[in-house]
Order: sequence, then C-alpha cells, then structure tokens
Amino acid sequence: MKGVILHGGRGTRLRPLTHTGPKQLIPIANKPMSQYALEDLREAGIEDIAIILGSVAPEKVVEYYGDGSEFDVKVTYIRQGEPRGIAQAIGLAREFVRDEPFVVYLGDNLLKDGIRELVEDFRGSNAEAQIALSHVKNPEAFGVAELDSGGKVIRLVEKPKVPQSDLALVGVYMFRRSIFDAIDALKPSWRDELEITEAVQRLIDMGLTVRSHVVSGWWKDTGIPEDILEANQLVLSDLSHLNRGKLADDVKVTGKIAVGEGTVIRTKCTLRGPLIIGRNCDIGPSTYVGPYTSVGDNVVIKGGEIENSIVLNDTIIECEKRIVDSLVGKGSRVFSNETNIPRACKLIIGENTIVSL
Ligand code: DAU
Repeated sequence: MKGVILHGGRGTRLRPLTHTGPKQLIPIANKPMSQYALEDLREAGIEDIAIILGSVAPEKVVEYYGDGSEFDVKVTYIRQGEPRGIAQAIGLAREFVRDEPFVVYLGDNLLKDGIRELVEDFRGSNAEAQIALSHVKNPEAFGVAELDSGGKVIRLVEKPKVPQSDLALVGVYMFRRSIFDAIDALKPSWRDELEITEAVQRLIDMGLTVRSHVVSGWWKDTGIPEDILEANQLVLSDLSHLNRGKLADDVKVTGKIAVGEGTVIRTKCTLRGPLIIGRNCDIGPSTYVGPYTSVGDNVVIKGGEIENSIVLNDTIIECEKRIVDSLVGKGSRVFSNETNIPRACKLIIGENTIVSL
C-alpha cells in the first residue's frame, strides 16, 4: 500500500503563522503536525509516501522531509499549487499510486490511535474505499456521513446546513484505483473545489462497497488557532518524562516534562507539566512554565508566567506578565516596559495578528 499526505491549502484561518509556511508544518508538542501523519503511515507499514505540496512555501516542506530517509520512509513530492480541492489533489497522485491501494492522510489531522487498525481492516477487505468517522458536536463544520440502520454508509454531505448525523468524516481515507474515475467525473462545488466527499458518494452510487469505521480515540482537525492549542493539549497529555537539560537545584517540577539537550532552567523556576521545552533554551530565573505549553528550540524566557501556549523556535520573551492560550511565531520578541513612561504598548506585528492586551 502507498500513502499520500496532503500538504497544500492556504491556511488562511491560521494567519499570520501561515504567511511564511504551510499550516501542516506548525509544530504540535514540538513536531510538525504532518509528521504525525507520516509516522502513523509508517507505523501502519506504509513507507512509500507522496506529499502533495501547495503554494505556501512548499520548499520548506521539501527542506524538512527531504527524501524521507531521516524518517525511515521514501518521500515523493507532487505539486498542486493553488488549492482546487482535496479530490483534485488526490487526482494528482494517480501516476504515483498506479495499481496499488492507498491511504490519503490530510496533513492537518491528528488521530490519537494512529491508523494501523484501519489499514489492516482495509487490506483484508474487498471494499473499494474506506472512510473513518468520529462523533462530533459541530458536524456542520465537516463532511457528514449518514448511515442506514445496519451501519452502512448511504450518504456523505460536505458541510451540511442541517446535518443528518453527528458523524464527521475524519481526514484519513483508503482507496483503490476506482477513486480516480470518480474524481474525473466531479464538477467544482459551491466553494469551487473538487470535493472528496462527492467522489466517495459516487462510489456509493455506483454500488461499490465503501466501509466505514468510527474511531474511538480523539481526533483533531486543526483549522483555527484554538484547534492548534487543543491538539497541543491532547498530544502533551500522553507525554513521556524525559529531561536532557540542566535544571538548577531549586527548580520546582510537577507532572511530566520533556526538556531538550543544552537547555538551562535557572534558579527559582517552576515547571508544571505536561510541558515540552526544546533544545538550547534559556529559561528563568523565577519563571513559571505551566501545563500544556510547548516551547521550541533556542528560546529565551526571562521572568513572567506562560501557560497553555506554543512558542516557536528562536523567540525571546522578557516580561513579567502572564501569557496564556497564545501562539508565538518563530523569531518573535515579546518585552514589557513597565518602568518606562508613558506606559504605552509598542507593537511591531504582522498582518492578521491577534493581540489581547
Ligand atoms: O478534517 C476533516 C475534514 O477535511 C472533512 O470532514 C471534510 O469532509 C473535508 O472536506 C475536509 O474539510 P476541510 O474544510 O477541513 O478541508 P481543508 O480545506 O481544511 O483541507 C484539508 C487539508 O487538505 C488541509 O491540510 C489542506 C489540504 N488541502 C486542501 C485543499 C482544499 C490540499 O492539500 N489541497 C487542497 O486543494
């Protein structure tokens, strides 16, 4: 079986973070979210993987994954450019997959339990396609499946105004070659995209077997900043304790923490896990890093408190304030000037930034 990871789209709802890179490279617990997809595929025994590149800094994706050898897989790149729909993106993988069955993994989806079982079930079946479903509170934000009394999929609708069930389509699909004919027959939807939901519906309408699985562990699709923070919380909840840094003797630690090599945690700091701090960071003195925080590499945090936040690499935070529920982009600087008069806020911030003072 082969794997296809979708790495395109515009990520407009995650600007400004997506001005400089695709959203799928935003780290969750210090690892790009698409790497979770790649590792799930690898753990399911799929090592021949195509990454479909979009128009936002695709070179950063190629730079990160290279030929895949660092991740024990083989990566092939396919360029989509402008997003014309998930189905259009999948259609571009026709030559790559040839006659093999394949798994499509949306690069902005995270699944607690991976996909091993799903892949095994599909491998052992003669189904033409397999979809994964999850019970959600807001089905209107997703593709929604309607099942008959026997649990068979009868209808799939993309973002219905009046959902017929609470079963959302998870961004992991399994297909055989037949999906390409279904994609060829599609017309652009109201959002001017070729919808994969409609392509799968075509298979159902043709009388082909489409299996469905309701996933039991959590599933997260990361469209907006709140989703990123929630995904970060979910992943950190399963964190293993691992300290490779240097902690001063009086640092108070509770819960599970992971601290990278070369990182120094100075005197009078409090670290309350689950949290992860990357390599070569300088934290403290007298700094509080609270639960559900991910701090990247080469970050300096002096003083103040931070909780439930993601701080990307090469950032400096020097302020006595309490920072919560925040996403701080790469190379940012956050200062406080309490002693200066007038006590004004001085901001140099990019397009589409959100600041809550
Ligand atoms: O996450 C699950 C949902 O994903 C499903 O429930 C929906 O049925 C499915 O249509 C999709 O909905 P979204 O509106 O969330 O799709 P989005 O446009 O965010 O794209 C999903 C991923 O695919 C994202 O990582 C970007 C990538 N993508 C998207 C498009 C439209 C591409 O690589 N190329 C594209 O042309």
